[in-house]
Amino acid sequence: MDARTMEPRKPEIGNSALYSDVIAGMSRSPKGLSPKWFYDDRGSAIFEEITQLSEYYPSRTERAILETGLARIEAHVPAGAALVELGSGASVKTRLLLNGLKGLSTYVPVDISEDFLHASAAELATDFPRLDVRPVVADFMQPVPLPDLGGQPVVGFFPGSTIGNLSPDAARALLMRLGEWPDHDTLILGVDLVKAPETLVAAYDDASGVTARFNLNLLRRLNREAGAEFDLETFRHKAIWNATEARVEMHLQSLEDQSVQIGDHVVEFAAGETIHTENSHKYSVESLSELARTAGWHLAEVLTDPQALFAVAILHRT
Ligand code: SAH
Ligand code: AVI
Repeated sequence: MDARTMEPRKPEIGNSALYSDVIAGMSRSPKGLSPKWFYDDRGSAIFEEITQLSEYYPSRTERAILETGLARIEAHVPAGAALVELGSGASVKTRLLLNGLKGLSTYVPVDISEDFLHASAAELATDFPRLDVRPVVADFMQPVPLPDLGGQPVVGFFPGSTIGNLSPDAARALLMRLGEWPDHDTLILGVDLVKAPETLVAAYDDASGVTARFNLNLLRRLNREAGAEFDLETFRHKAIWNATEARVEMHLQSLEDQSVQIGDHVVEFAAGETIHTENSHKYSVESLSELARTAGWHLAEVLTDPQALFAVAILHRT
């Protein structure tokens, strides 16, 4: 007998940070994983599909607010400023600011999705030749290593309601860290507002199943990069509104009792058990104002749409 066929299969673990995070997350009760792992190249591309869905109102609503509010935003942006964007992704809405805010000299997109960030930054550098585009690959849950901006005033941009993917405590800690950046007195922050649960759940469980693909892509990534052997057919996407915590939760629910190999661990799932993959916290102007206040910022302006679905707040350091 060929000795090689007798060896147990050695699962390949290409991403040791993802592997240790998933083992920790699967050992907790309830099981969970950070949403930052959604964004491999494929996850970033699926997110762009989400932004086009009729049910997913945040992207088009924020875009409209930025368009109609441009003059008011411009009044807060000093000449020669550097725009530093957290979770820049494809920088689609940012183009409105890069076109409209004539005084900007530098754009620093910060994202964890490395290849996607570099591709987006290269396109921007071509389309905006007078702008200094300086991408930074970083996890914004840690201190962000900003490039030396030579004393330029910094305007932060954190759109998309990505801050809603953090717990309120983590959001406060992040806002406090942003307040420590040198020359950073103005932050443009996009947040999604509390609204009817049906509208919220539909935005995270669209009829064409794009958000389900986004969520399930996490298991595909674990199989590829963390030595896991998930059968994607045995999990389903689930989105619920948690009114107590004011958040939409996304989960992956096991359809059966099963054991899943992840590297050299075996993880047990009961039928119906879920992996909690994302929270998307929704704010009111009051709760946002309180969050900002306790993090050393205040709301200088709040721009919203006629239906009050979404808000773009301009924060100043207190
Ligand atoms: N700003 C864009 C994209 C939002 S999607 C928009 O509004 O449409 C969220 C983005 O944040 C993704 O590009 C993702 O890669 C990035 N991201 C998520 N968690 C992150 C983290 N911890 N650190 C850095 N970037 C992160
Ligand atoms: C990036 N983030 C703000 C999105 C959200 O709405 O929470 C991610 C997302 N998850 C499902 N759909 C979109």
